[in-house]
Amino acid sequence: MIESKYRNKNLHTFNNDNAVIEGWYWALQSRELKVGEAKAVRLSGKDLAIFRSESGKVTAMDAFCPHRGAHLAGGTVEGEALRCYYHHWKFDQSGDCVDVPCLKKAPKASVSTYPVEDHYGLIWVWVGQGEPHALPIVPDLEGHEVDVTFAKPYVKNCHPNIVMSDAIDAQHFRSVHRIPGDILNLAGEKIDDNTLHYANVAGVPTDSPIGKLLAIFYKTQLTYSLCYWGGCAGSVTVGPDFQRFHIIYANRLGDNGVSEGQVILLTKRRKTAIGRLYGKSLLLATRIVSDYFADGDTPQFDTIKFDFKTPIKDDKTILQFMSHVEGLPVADWGFSKPNRIDSVQVGEAACTAH
Ligand code: FES
Ligand SMILES: [Fe+2]
Repeated sequence: MIESKYRNKNLHTFNNDNAVIEGWYWALQSRELKVGEAKAVRLSGKDLAIFRSESGKVTAMDAFCPHRGAHLAGGTVEGEALRCYYHHWKFDQSGDCVDVPCLKKAPKASVSTYPVEDHYGLIWVWVGQGEPHALPIVPDLEGHEVDVTFAKPYVKNCHPNIVMSDAIDAQHFRSVHRIPGDILNLAGEKIDDNTLHYANVAGVPTDSPIGKLLAIFYKTQLTYSLCYWGGCAGSVTVGPDFQRFHIIYANRLGDNGVSEGQVILLTKRRKTAIGRLYGKSLLLATRIVSDYFADGDTPQFDTIKFDFKTPIKDDKTILQFMSHVEGLPVADWGFSKPNRIDSVQVGEAACTAH
């Protein structure tokens, strides 16, 4: 048996249930958080309270109130701040306590907050120590306004790195998806420290009836390109030259090592009524493509025990992804780290009417 250096026991970051790779992670769909609402989100082992202020700004903060630990998502949005349900302490968007009803002056107490962005229909939270990376962008759609919709969110019984490895697994296209072997040959390229790009470089074969048919739609090669941001999210672009379909797979590590995923379907925004109708039908078609691929892969996601004992030449794309992920920084996401609490003056904390 070949002793592969990519066996689990040799890996530090890839497929590690106890490490959160630095990056942007989805928290919830934007439409699930209306103005004036607060929601509880558990993001890779950490509980958050996420609220949308009256001006529409979204804030993500540690869930547990620094007074007595009530879950802040049970509180009430007041203007640009969130007031805890239990004793009505109020926290601003920086997490600082700014009001306690029974005190003249709020005590020095705060809760950690995290960078957050509303993008492609999702609320993303930055998990990491460094400056937040640029937000995930589908290369083909850069600079364009887009319309998005979602396929069904999923939970897979394996790590997000394993879910992401699937879309670059050359062999399984032949075995699971029955795609002829000579029309796909993926080449990976590192774009920056965080981003890997894969594109199909196999020419369309013109010596077979299927090749001749494909050549009508694809000038040089079948479009199948992927842009991976970090190790847990990426986009897939497929479709003929005149019309491409774009899908984002956004995963985060859930409790017990599962992947919690969102599938975003995207298309360029069109201005006219007919254009919008066309856009809607494209999104519907994108969903069919996405469901087809997801259905084929689901059975193995539920039972796989990833351990790369015998990689072969066709696995080179996966090996490249693994080595990329091994080089990514792990975030200090502190699975059980307490919130930051400054000391509260006991004398001052005695309730006084005002
Ligand atoms: S627990 Fe939140 S105000 Fe007391
Ligand atoms: Fe697949």
